[in-house]
Amino acid sequence: MTRLDLTLRDPAATERLGHFIAGWLKAGDVVALDGPLGAGKSVLARAIIRHVCPQEDDIPSPTFTLVQTYEPAEGPSLMHFDLYRLDSPEDALELGIEDAFIDSVCLVEWAQRLGPYLPRTALNVAINPGPDNNDTRAVSLAGGGRWQTLITEIDTQMQGVN
Ligand SMILES: Nc1ncnc2c1ncn2[C@@H]1O[C@H](COP(=O)(O)OP(=O)(O)OP(=O)(O)O)[C@@H](O)[C@H]1O
Ligand SMILES: [Mg+2]
Repeated sequence: MTRLDLTLRDPAATERLGHFIAGWLKAGDVVALDGPLGAGKSVLARAIIRHVCPQEDDIPSPTFTLVQTYEPAEGPSLMHFDLYRLDSPEDALELGIEDAFIDSVCLVEWAQRLGPYLPRTALNVAINPGPDNNDTRAVSLAGGGRWQTLITEIDTQMQGVN
């Protein structure tokens, strides 16, 4: 397990992180996004979706539908979950989340709400407001396996730009 703490100074820095992560994603990957309301989970998720599906002009929030599916020109489906309104972890099974975790790339806002159903192989991204109460965000990335290489790359690449 590798862990990296980053400071993102503005939404553009969060979007750059999203584009960077997007370039790595393949079927079976789960990006678990956690953090309080308004932290920037959707900003990061949208940046990933825009990178994977550049032809997509409408990226609605899955706040009420809980899941939104995208079909890129190439590669696996991309599924964007927002589990804020999930009543119990079991309800996620009705969304087909287990199959999605195998076949698709999954971006999951409020991922901790999955409890035991959150794959341990996920890239965990925690976003929190920065200390100065403006556009700064504190982001913590943690993951094992091939995420460790990505996290090391981000550590090198994002220096000086965030
Ligand atoms: N560095 C930053 N990174 C991301 N968003 C930022 C940043 N600075 C300011 N913001 C603003 O914070 C807000 C983040 O909103 P966003 O919808 O992404 O939050 P969220 O974590 O998805 O919240 P929710 O739990 O309600 O879905 C946006 O209005 C965005 O412009
Ligand atoms: Mg959101």
